Parts: sequence; structure tokens; C-alpha cells
Amino acid sequence: MSNRIALVTGAARGLGAVVARTFHQAGYKVALADIALEPAQQLARELSADGSSACAIRLDVTRKADFEAARDSVLERWGGIDALVNNAGASKVVPVMEISAEQFDQVINVNLRSVLFGCQVFGEYFAQRGVGRIVNIASLAGQNGGSATGAHYAAAKGGVLTLTKVFARDLAARGVTVNAISPGPLDLPIVHESVPADKLEKVIEAIPVGKLGAASYIAEVAVMLASGNAYFANGACWDINGGLYMR
Ligand SMILES: NC(=O)c1ccc[n+]([C@@H]2O[C@H](COP(=O)([O-])OP(=O)(O)OC[C@H]3O[C@@H](n4cnc5c(N)ncnc54)[C@H](O)[C@@H]3O)[C@@H](O)[C@H]2O)c1
Repeated sequence: MSNRIALVTGAARGLGAVVARTFHQAGYKVALADIALEPAQQLARELSADGSSACAIRLDVTRKADFEAARDSVLERWGGIDALVNNAGASKVVPVMEISAEQFDQVINVNLRSVLFGCQVFGEYFAQRGVGRIVNIASLAGQNGGSATGAHYAAAKGGVLTLTKVFARDLAARGVTVNAISPGPLDLPIVHESVPADKLEKVIEAIPVGKLGAASYIAEVAVMLASGNAYFANGACWDINGGLYMR
């Protein structure tokens, strides 16, 4: 059992929930931060009935003040934070020529502004402590333009990869590493909800390994990048896409 502490955004469901569980299994105390408080609370209670090793926090990743409040609340509760996983994200498929200003701003805010604020608030806290780990969940869409997602989402995720490098460079000397993971399509509820079954079959056929990705493996890589001795992995993008994109 380690004494490490992690905050995961978008932890109420999907990949974030798997990441939160995996950190918890690895011995971390975990703060599950999400705009959807109730399911985050449910999962936190499931992980730790008495709240000693898991808690839920309402956090809207588009608001910097929410990150600050979440940081303070975890510090008050457990006295430190070792790792932040910027996982929350959202998209809606809209043809590129039809994306409105409002849709563009909304998707950029949830997927990219979120990472800016997370890295600013937690990056500064970690730097003051002299140690910390940030893992940003990007996407294959940010590398190849995406297919079943929107252009605004793909552009935001490309931005996540760039912010990862900027924060990695600026914070490295102060003991903080920042890395991104870029998953291809994962076997998660959102994929089954948003891609019709016949189209999903074609998506899977096009993946060289012939299967959707496992969220649990993405989570394991996040735990690995958050570990104390991961200090030499910095500013990298970890491609986990079944061979859909090679470079
Ligand atoms: N599912 C995939 O195949 C896939 C592939 C590549 C990357 N990703 C990335 O993985 C991450 C998680 O995706 P998912 O598939 O679990 O999606 P999901 O929609 O199932 O879950 C997203 C979570 O984020 C939360 N969230 C949304 N807006 C928020 C906000 N403003 N503030 C706080 N929380 C908010 C939601 O409440 C939800 O719990 C995202 O960054 C996504 O882009 C997913």
C-alpha cells in the first residue's frame, strides 16, 4: 500500500472510472472529480465505503476556480497530491463545415482549456513541492484528424499534445513530468453509444490488431507514468491504438 494520492478528472464513468479504480488498486488514495457528482460519489463509495481512500469532488474542467477548489479540498483531506490525470473530455460528431462557433468553443473548452487549467493549477502546486506527475488523456484523433469524432475534438486533442510538451518543458527542472496518452478507439460505453453497430464492425475491421482497445491497459500506463521513478519519461505521447497510426 503506497501513500500516494491522485486526482482523476472525468472519473464518474468510462475511461476515467477505470483509471480511478486502477490507481486505487495500485494503492493510491483517489479523488474522483467530475461534473457529474452523483455517479462519482457512487464509485468513490464502492472503492472506499468510509471515504478514507476515495472521495468524489464536483469539478467542471472548464473552470480554473474548480481546479483550485479541488486541489485545496484534497490537500485538506489527505495533505498532499502526487498525480493528476486530465481525463475528462467530450465530443459530438458534427460535419466539419457545419461546426458552429458555440459548438467549437464548447468542445475546445472541455477538451483543451481543461488541460491548460489542470496543468496550470496542479503544475504550480507540484512544482512548489518539487515533485509531481501529470498525465493528459489525448486521442489518436489529435494525431490523425480522427474519423468517428468531430474536427473540433480532433483539433482540441492535437492541442493537448502541444500543451503537454510546453508544460513538460517548463516544469521539468522543478521535478514535474507531463505526458500524454493517445488512445485509439476503446471498448467503452461511449463508443458503443455513439457508433452504430454496423459502423463499429467496420471500425474494428480497420484496426490492425482487430479489436477495440482495453481501457484497463490505458489506466495501467497512466499508473506507470505517475510513479515516482517515471521521472525520465517527460513530454512524450504514448500511442496506444492497435497499430492504427504508426510513426
Ligand atoms: N472512448 C474512447 O475510445 C476514447 C479514445 C481516445 C480518447 N478518449 C478520451 O478519454 C477520455 C475519457 O473518455 P470516455 O470515453 O471515458 O468518455 P465518457 O463520455 O464516457 O466520460 C467522460 C467523463 O467526463 C465527464 N465530463 C464531461 N464534461 C466534463 C466537465 N466539463 N467537467 C468535468 N467532467 C466532465 C463526464 O461526466 C464523464 O464522466 C476523454 O478525454 C476522451 O477524449 C476516449
